[in-house]
Amino acid sequence: NIYSIILCGGSGTRLWPLSRKSFPKQFLTLGGAKKSLLELSIERIKNISPISRRWLVTAKGQENLCTNQVSNQIAKMIIEPEARNTAPAIALSAWRLMQEDPEAIMVILSSDHAIQNIRSFEQTISDAIQLAKNNFFVTVGIQPTYPATGFGYIEQGLPLDKDGNILSPQKLTEVTATGYSVRSFREKPNQAAAEQFLRTKKYLWNAGIFVWKTKTFWNAFSHIQPETAALIEAINNDNLNEIYAKIENSPIDIAFIEQTSHVACIPANFDWNDVGSWSAVRECFEQDSQGNTLSGEIFTHETRNSVIHTTGPFVSVVGMENVAVIATNDAVLVMPLARSQDVKKVVQHLEQKN
Ligand code: GDD
Ligand code: MG
Repeated sequence: NIYSIILCGGSGTRLWPLSRKSFPKQFLTLGGAKKSLLELSIERIKNISPISRRWLVTAKGQENLCTNQVSNQIAKMIIEPEARNTAPAIALSAWRLMQEDPEAIMVILSSDHAIQNIRSFEQTISDAIQLAKNNFFVTVGIQPTYPATGFGYIEQGLPLDKDGNILSPQKLTEVTATGYSVRSFREKPNQAAAEQFLRTKKYLWNAGIFVWKTKTFWNAFSHIQPETAALIEAINNDNLNEIYAKIENSPIDIAFIEQTSHVACIPANFDWNDVGSWSAVRECFEQDSQGNTLSGEIFTHETRNSVIHTTGPFVSVVGMENVAVIATNDAVLVMPLARSQDVKKVVQHLEQKN
């Protein structure tokens, strides 16, 4: 059985003023889309898991947003008492699944990415499932385009066939590789390391999609992180809050992927974007004939290649290029799209003020 586990407890503010601590990116409806990133993430798995095998893992404070947006599209919502990053979220769902169906394959997905070409996405997941049946921990790799420091890097090893057997150079002339063994994994390297990874051309970005067999994962995870595993195994109906407070805050990439063996990677053939900035929003969503991505009540005149989004006042933009104009009821952001990373300056300022 294939279970989709959708992680939905993050709290990014890079799309401020639309995304807030109380309204994270995954709940936003961007560009001309009719659905939020979370809704699109769940729509994307319609041919992977039936509703009865879709679990959503979220953190307290976000459960109402989840319920409003997708409650009829999922079977189970696991609510963490507090967000402690992805390792506890994944371990908790894996342990629950161990009780129900240890042979199940878990397809672990983020809720805040934009993916185009669903057919190719489905093919990648189906290839990943086949490798996971052979006890691999499968990641999905994205061809890097710049030395990002906000992603994990996967060092590709030897080519594998669909069942995970290493393909000899001779065999490679007959069949194409389904994936690659993973030589090493490095979560969020510094700038110098990221630049070096890009130069060697042997690294892919980690897409944040993981596929593995529940039992295989739990065995390996409890070996690598015995304390977290023991705490999770001790959870019962009464002590979730108490135990969660003791669990180490850690992403799965560092707590597990960097440290385990038998990791495989399937290079993606679909367009993937983590929608980490306003300039990414323009790349991921529909543009008008002038290259603008618009949402809300807007008038533009001689304006090109811009992102304009309002959930509050009517917005008009005249004679501008490559800008973001984002308006809500209580805040407005105006900046060149090239400065999209500097939204964090505003967020820092607001945090200091409060
Ligand atoms: N339930 C729950 N609880 N979900 C969480 C939590 C948590 O405490 N923390 C994060 N999530 C969810 C987020 O909502 C998102 O959907 C997903 O887990 C990934 O978390 P991020 O916080 O967005 O991770 P990241 O972007 O910094 O890094 C990960 O994704 C990159 C690709 O976007 C890593 O896997 C990187 O290696 C990867 O390159
Ligand atoms: Mg992310």
